Amino acid sequence: MIPQSFIQELLGRVDIVDVVDRHVKLKRAGANYVACCPFHSEKTPSFTVSPTKQFYHCFGCGAHGTAVGFLMEYSGMGFVEAVKDLAQSVGMQVPEVRTESAQRKAEEGDDLYAVLLKAAQFYRAQLKDAPRAIAYLKQRGLSGEIAKRFGIGYAPDGWQNLATAFSDYGGAALAAAGLVKQNEDGKRYDVFRDRIMFPIVDVRGNVIGFGGRVLDKEGADSAAQGSPKYLNSPETPVFEKGRELYGLYQARRTIRDAGRVVVVEGYMDVVALAQHGVDYAVATLGTATTPLHVQKLLRQSDEIVFCFDGDEAGRRAAWRALENSLAQLADGKQVKFLFLPEGEDPDTYVRKHGTAAFKALLDQAVPLSAFLLQGLAGRVDLAAHEGKAKLLQDAKSLVQQITAPLLSLLLRQDLARLAGVTQQELDREFQIKPQPSQAAPRRTPPAQRSIARTVIELLMFEPVLARLAERSELAHGFGLDGIEQAELKALDQLLEVLAAGLPIANAGEYFRGTEHEALLRAIEAGVLHWQDKNLAAEELEAEFSGAWRQLIDRIRRARISELLEKSRKQGLSPEDQAQYRLLQQAVAAAAPK
Ligand code: UTP
Ligand code: MN
Repeated sequence: MIPQSFIQELLGRVDIVDVVDRHVKLKRAGANYVACCPFHSEKTPSFTVSPTKQFYHCFGCGAHGTAVGFLMEYSGMGFVEAVKDLAQSVGMQVPEVRTESAQRKAEEGDDLYAVLLKAAQFYRAQLKDAPRAIAYLKQRGLSGEIAKRFGIGYAPDGWQNLATAFSDYGGAALAAAGLVKQNEDGKRYDVFRDRIMFPIVDVRGNVIGFGGRVLDKEGADSAAQGSPKYLNSPETPVFEKGRELYGLYQARRTIRDAGRVVVVEGYMDVVALAQHGVDYAVATLGTATTPLHVQKLLRQSDEIVFCFDGDEAGRRAAWRALENSLAQLADGKQVKFLFLPEGEDPDTYVRKHGTAAFKALLDQAVPLSAFLLQGLAGRVDLAAHEGKAKLLQDAKSLVQQITAPLLSLLLRQDLARLAGVTQQELDREFQIKPQPSQAAPRRTPPAQRSIARTVIELLMFEPVLARLAERSELAHGFGLDGIEQAELKALDQLLEVLAAGLPIANAGEYFRGTEHEALLRAIEAGVLHWQDKNLAAEELEAEFSGAWRQLIDRIRRARISELLEKSRKQGLSPEDQAQYRLLQQAVAAAAPK
């Protein structure tokens, strides 16, 4: 847990313009800064950063948030990571309120990062004195520059080399980091021996684990001795294979420039592709592609190309990747599949045929939708009803996972055609609810906006307006039908916090983790629209008072109807009667003369 007061103070100290500009070059445009949006592809800039409000907002795709939110979205950092990163950039120390066990875990984590970094430095230094290892890398076509970019090192042969780098070779940290093991006699030994070392790095640049490759040709000799070609670090508190992608840290910028990311299977594939100028490839870590991987990558790029070997195992891995991508897809994003000729992997292919040939293959990659249809249709006999029935049965659970409306629609149309049924029949079978024919635009038209939302927007935009609101008047509305309860309660909380004089740079951040967060974040997007209007202080006050009066009037009228209903059914208590009279007077007084 990080105290809210700290986050507010932090957001007060950092300038979102600097934070964004470090990653996306901004241009001044009037009071704001603009750039082409890093979260969707576009040719003209609709991504806006407001220095006065400390917000970014994209009018094209609706992305918006604070400096913290930007780092989370842009770099794929977690909340705590992003806060720490920002704090570091302005020299603030994150105070943490921790339970004892969380404290211990964090200290272990810090320890692990330090140990792994030191090990990586050790392995890198060892490579310089290892002509055999250098010769191996050269023979695989790698330059010193690329080896450096990926921090490649060498773990020398011998059982306790790490003892020369770590004074506490017997301590818990090296074992916890997966670098040292203990035999039955209690004697410790290095896990990685006589191997090329590939450090695995997280999005912040921390070393979190290693892959180590034997130096002989295909690992055949050592495999015979029961030692695999690649040895990987075990999962630790800082390393979870289903989350991490090898090479992502190095490729973040180039992925954006290329507009695509290529996902391959091996460490050497990533490195060899980078050596040949395809420096936007990443690899899973000997595991299947997870939904989290896909999510992380779609945040960085609108196009993912999965590149697999052309053999049976490659096809199976591709299908797993397809299944785990479905729920992450959005219209406007593309996931594609590239199958290399049998016996080739990206490393051998690019070395044999060159960069241009590999890029040409990338351009011809098969879209997910086509791969899906081919895969499904390929396993049945479409000439028979049984085959068509199986097609639909197999397709059902896959299509149901797709939340991208247009893609889903197009696929259902194709499937219906293949199976010889109408799309309505298929939708009924798939339990797809009929959608309005027009896809809703991303920016909510003002007519749909509730009055409570407008009030919240204005308060977020200009917190001092809170003094024009009488918070207790909201309370009448909490139990009422037909009133947006969630909005009312969020508004109530917001007013409470503002009354306490807390500086709320942004409410979504303040209410992170509470029931109000999602709503307030959704509303935050509207804040910049007020800025665009550029109203004078009095005009803004008038807007706010007007909206507030409408809101309270609605609450009063709804409460009056409720009391009337009650009087018909069971009669009113004296308190009810008093309240009814007061409300009637208030409504009459507020009504335009
Ligand atoms: P490959 O056998 O395709 O490796 O395994 P590669 O990248 O082509 O390796 P080179 O070209 O022979 O050097 C792909 C990935 O599967 C995992 C590793 O992550 C590897 O990069 N793997 C493979 C292991 O974890 N252990 C192994 O023994 C083999
Ligand atoms: Mn290979």
